[in-house]
Amino acid sequence: MSLLELADVDAYYDESHILRDVSMRVEEGEVCALLGRNGAGKTTTLRSIAGAQPPDVRGGSIHFRGEDITSNDPEDVSSHGISLVPEERRVFPDLTVAENLHLAEVDQNVSNTIGRSLPDVQHEGMTTEEVYEEFERLRERREQKAGTLSGGEQQMLAIARALKQNTDLLMLDEPYEGLAPQIIANVEDAIRRISESGTTILLVEQNAAAAIKLADRCYVVDQGEIVFDGTAERLRDDEETRERYLGV
Ligand SMILES: Nc1ncnc2c1ncn2[C@@H]1O[C@H](COP(=O)(O)OP(=O)(O)OP(=O)(O)O)[C@@H](O)[C@H]1O
Ligand SMILES: [Mg+2]
Repeated sequence: MSLLELADVDAYYDESHILRDVSMRVEEGEVCALLGRNGAGKTTTLRSIAGAQPPDVRGGSIHFRGEDITSNDPEDVSSHGISLVPEERRVFPDLTVAENLHLAEVDQNVSNTIGRSLPDVQHEGMTTEEVYEEFERLRERREQKAGTLSGGEQQMLAIARALKQNTDLLMLDEPYEGLAPQIIANVEDAIRRISESGTTILLVEQNAAAAIKLADRCYVVDQGEIVFDGTAERLRDDEETRERYLGV
């Protein structure tokens, strides 16, 4: 059984049919990349998994550890140990780094108290100290307002906030977007370490070259349809697919 499995998912924004029979699976422990151009349907796929509205999932199914989570509400999906770091890197700009991390913890405690946390979530949320060990940069800047952090630092803070939740599957929506190559390398290292610690990762990127470096397996989506499914190695060697759908 795959950790996450999408079968023939159809998703809509009002009457516009965006995802068409999207089937994909993410295996426990791997880094799976979902690649595609602007507007291909990457964010829509992540939002469908996370239970965000819109889009509206009208066909197909989404299973996590064999359990049907299709169209469950976002709190329920997150209680299964699924975290999404959205494209816009949601941090509270007027709060410090430490306050941002603290709030993520409060959120987690609230969901634990209302009994939403399921016992089968294997990766407990990190403590603030563990987060600072992972991201020394955030420790140095813990009293700085999040809004004044660089793009790369904000990305790390957004990832750190997700890791404070119980996370078995971490979904990252274009974590490299807008970052300089040196900073991309830092974020890449962080993702690699998170993966090595056992958290499964679904990485959405337009930057195919960078994503292929980290990924075990890749999917390419184009106009809402999966057009490639295979190992990162196969995609690296498949020049035609890369040129046609990824423009690289
Ligand atoms: N809220 C919305 N309402 C209507 N259409 C939307 C909405 N969000 C996205 N779309 C459309 O759905 C399609 C897929 O968008 P999506 O955001 O999933 O693309 P993407 O692959 O994440 O692209 P990008 O790399 O630019 O982030 C696009 O044609 C987009 O215009
Ligand atoms: Mg997107």
